Amino acid sequence: MLSAEMNERLTRVGPGTPCGELMRRYWVPFAAASQLDDNPVRPVRLLGEDLVLYKTTKGGYGLIGNRCLHRLVDLQYGIPDEEGLRCPYHGWLYDGKGDCIERPMEAVPRAKFPRKTPAYPVQELGGMLFTYMGPLPAPALPRWDLYVWPNAIRQIAFNTLNCNWLQCQENTGDPTHSVWTHGHFFKYVLERDGKFDERAASDKHTLRNRIKWGDGIKEIIAQPTQYGFEKGIVYAKELGAEQDHIHRHATVMFPFYTNTGSPGAPRSEYQIRVPIDDTHTLHICYQVYAAPPGVKAPEQNSVPWYEPPTHDANGKPIFDYVLAQDAFVWWAQGDIVDRSKESLGRTDIPIILLRKQLDEQIGRVEKGLDPMNVWRDKSPDVIFGAGEPPHGWTGDPATFNPPKVGQDYRRMYHKGFAIDDADRYGPMLDQIKDLHRKIEESGLAVAPQKKVEGQLVVSE
Ligand code: FES
Ligand SMILES: [Fe+2]
Repeated sequence: MLSAEMNERLTRVGPGTPCGELMRRYWVPFAAASQLDDNPVRPVRLLGEDLVLYKTTKGGYGLIGNRCLHRLVDLQYGIPDEEGLRCPYHGWLYDGKGDCIERPMEAVPRAKFPRKTPAYPVQELGGMLFTYMGPLPAPALPRWDLYVWPNAIRQIAFNTLNCNWLQCQENTGDPTHSVWTHGHFFKYVLERDGKFDERAASDKHTLRNRIKWGDGIKEIIAQPTQYGFEKGIVYAKELGAEQDHIHRHATVMFPFYTNTGSPGAPRSEYQIRVPIDDTHTLHICYQVYAAPPGVKAPEQNSVPWYEPPTHDANGKPIFDYVLAQDAFVWWAQGDIVDRSKESLGRTDIPIILLRKQLDEQIGRVEKGLDPMNVWRDKSPDVIFGAGEPPHGWTGDPATFNPPKVGQDYRRMYHKGFAIDDADRYGPMLDQIKDLHRKIEESGLAVAPQKKVEGQLVVSE
């Protein structure tokens, strides 16, 4: 458990709060570039600030305060111009630095206006838009591997969740929740809806594996890595596991990423927990389906986005796919969980590490230092979240032959398994199925892995 003070320190994200100041040291992903295709102006709430994102008629991006300095009309209804965004009321024009550069019908139309509106820089990478809301100069935009990986299909899922960001991120430090949330609970839901036989007949169905992950747990491991931490479960045959082995789970990248899959894999994902404000989170799944050398992924001119539903038309929560199950347990903890009332156990060891790391990095910012995962001059060409390149890395994604991977359910979407995760709603689903089929036919995938004693198994 945490003291009430520490809970405040780790969760609040508004300007001037300890965690809010930490968050303002990072380039924060907050929208897909394709979200401006239909309407080039979009309201954005981020770290407790109300902003407006726009694309100029020349193609530049701006992110500025949402209130016109004249008489405070909401600029989400503004008119994009060559140089910025105009208020719809009297046409005042704001550039991407927050300067009001034109006031039509005023005595000196182009004189510089002394007041500024908040404004933050925007950069695009891999179809994602990022902003930096901290003290200038801004650091470099990090080139995390999934944003720059070539020969891949991409799509981005967005959800707004009614809870604090840390609840979502703590789930990343929770390797055992899978057994119940995505195992027993999934089974219960399918049985209750009369869909178990139709959906989970295959012995490869994810819920069957996840239930097995609960057998023979000897200990939970968690250790810091260069960019975050890793965690997993040690299994013992003598306690009921099939054999002794270590099951490593998704990598955590500080401060708000988790990374499932592996570089070059047929399905990898960043789950990003972006604080909208203290009690709302923008949950982003940045999904990448990479083709190995020898297989060609279709070209994409832009990266499409979607919003996987978490509730049905009657307002009832949807529970029958993995991301919706996660989202449900996050908001079901309340808007900001009161950690002074919790009762932690041995399965929470990685969560304790996550909180300690967060507290330490907030402390660095308080001392005027950069926190981890800030690159001042230039980002490396590609950064592997796990802290080290994958086995067999050649230095160039185009020639890197990823290790053959077992065909778990997320690599067999062509066999019907896409229905078990948010991907079932994705705009690229048909192309992804086609790609998975080609990967299997090319012999680059292997049959489901057989574990051997002492083997390290990495999964999501
Ligand atoms: S209120 Fe915006 S220009 Fe008048
Ligand atoms: Fe989960």
